[in-house]
Amino acid sequence: AATCIAVVALALAVLEPGARGLDRRADFPPGFLFGAATSSYQVEGAYLDDNKSLSNWDVYTHTQPGKIMDGRNADIADDHYHRYMDDVEIVHDLGVNSYRFSISWARIVPRGRLGEVNSAGIAFYNRLIDALLKKGIQPFVTLNHFDMPHELETRYGGWLGAGIREEFEYYTDVCFRAFGDRVRFWTTFNEPNLLVKFQFMLGKHPPNRCSPPFGSCSSGDSRREPYVAAHNVLLSHAAAVRNYRTNYQPEQGGSIGIVIAMKWYEPLTNSTEDVRAARRARSFEVDWFLDPIFFGDYPREMREMLSSDLPNFTSEEKKLLLNKVDFIGLNHYTTIYAKDCIYSPCDVGTYEGNALVYATGGNPQIGKPTAVGGYYVVPEGIEPAVMYVNHRYKNATIYITENGYSQHSSTNMVDLMSDVERVNYLKDYLTYLSSAVRKGANVGGYFVWSLVDNFEWLFGYTVRFGLYHVDFDTQVRTPRMSANWYRAFLTGDEVHE
Ligand code: NOJ
Repeated sequence: AATCIAVVALALAVLEPGARGLDRRADFPPGFLFGAATSSYQVEGAYLDDNKSLSNWDVYTHTQPGKIMDGRNADIADDHYHRYMDDVEIVHDLGVNSYRFSISWARIVPRGRLGEVNSAGIAFYNRLIDALLKKGIQPFVTLNHFDMPHELETRYGGWLGAGIREEFEYYTDVCFRAFGDRVRFWTTFNEPNLLVKFQFMLGKHPPNRCSPPFGSCSSGDSRREPYVAAHNVLLSHAAAVRNYRTNYQPEQGGSIGIVIAMKWYEPLTNSTEDVRAARRARSFEVDWFLDPIFFGDYPREMREMLSSDLPNFTSEEKKLLLNKVDFIGLNHYTTIYAKDCIYSPCDVGTYEGNALVYATGGNPQIGKPTAVGGYYVVPEGIEPAVMYVNHRYKNATIYITENGYSQHSSTNMVDLMSDVERVNYLKDYLTYLSSAVRKGANVGGYFVWSLVDNFEWLFGYTVRFGLYHVDFDTQVRTPRMSANWYRAFLTGDEVHE
């Protein structure tokens, strides 16, 4: 009995909102969006339903299962396509006022501009959006979250071919027209910086191309490829925003942004070289995509290091890009060390613009590891990350579009459900986020990744990020301790066991 009392006391201490810091909802501005996030390929399943075409990820997981840790795919995933009403219900149960999800390009225009608009695909997202709004939940919609119709990837080489820009403009136009009367928050791309890196540098995501010195595989051998792909992504983004601003925003009144993956890089020592290395790593990650939008060109560090491998913008393109966001989305999970790599021999690690970043086993760790390699728990890192973006990008509105904690699927069921580490992770990151808000950062919202356990790309189903546990045999969703904590934090209610 004594053990039982101790366990209950511990659970209550962990669950009590505000117990560990300044993490109360009232610490955030009025109208702040709190939500949870998912993406189409990771949760929808129904990969052949209702005239959807095969996406690049459908084909990749079927033809190269060896690339995925457990060899599995997302043909069914969370079966969200059929269970979306139940999922809206669990979103509502959390007490959030927003839900971030992405639209599957292959459901809306399965064959791109050459084919028909798929009314069944439109009808699905209409049902989802209407069900959310009925519950008072704002849809926060991503237009591209890594997936595209396979046919377009083949036709244009994915983001490598300039023709993909018109395709993206066309697809996004269909979305603005169909859903824009009800969607207040749009983002064009999720993590374009990771997208091009995994697709064209590391050979890990379709179309599986590599670029020296980062990876080696059978296809792709030009140092330029990732930068050309990024160039096309940026121009696709700008064209979609121009169209939204001209033809939809005046009447519909929503806003549009882009979501960047942002680690914080801490210099390994306070030597000038390491401090510079951290800055360079940031440039090659964040400024790469945001500088062209805010200042009309790539950051100086990238020009210096890449010279002719980095494409140039024409003056027309610069004009097209300038100021083409209403807000910035940041996916932030971790902080890692950066060390200079130019004047000293570099050892194992990964490279961000010639800064060696310590994120692998055996190197100095900055915080506790999680189930995803290179993702450490460093709550205090979110504050300088947000302040950096706030200062560099003119006090722009920032949304934390993802933040979350992963567990190994092999963890025992008790620990999977009593996810104390996730509760502490969320609490502590929110505490440091609220500190950035107090320092003047203009933060509009925060989304936990993820609502439910789902298909985690190269990790397949071996890791779990959900506030809700999913039994993939039965599709039953069960709230974890973290879901109960989030609800209590949001509603100010007591936690009832
Ligand atoms: C980044 C991506 O946007 C999302 O798809 C992924 O599942 C999470 N972070 C976790 O790695």
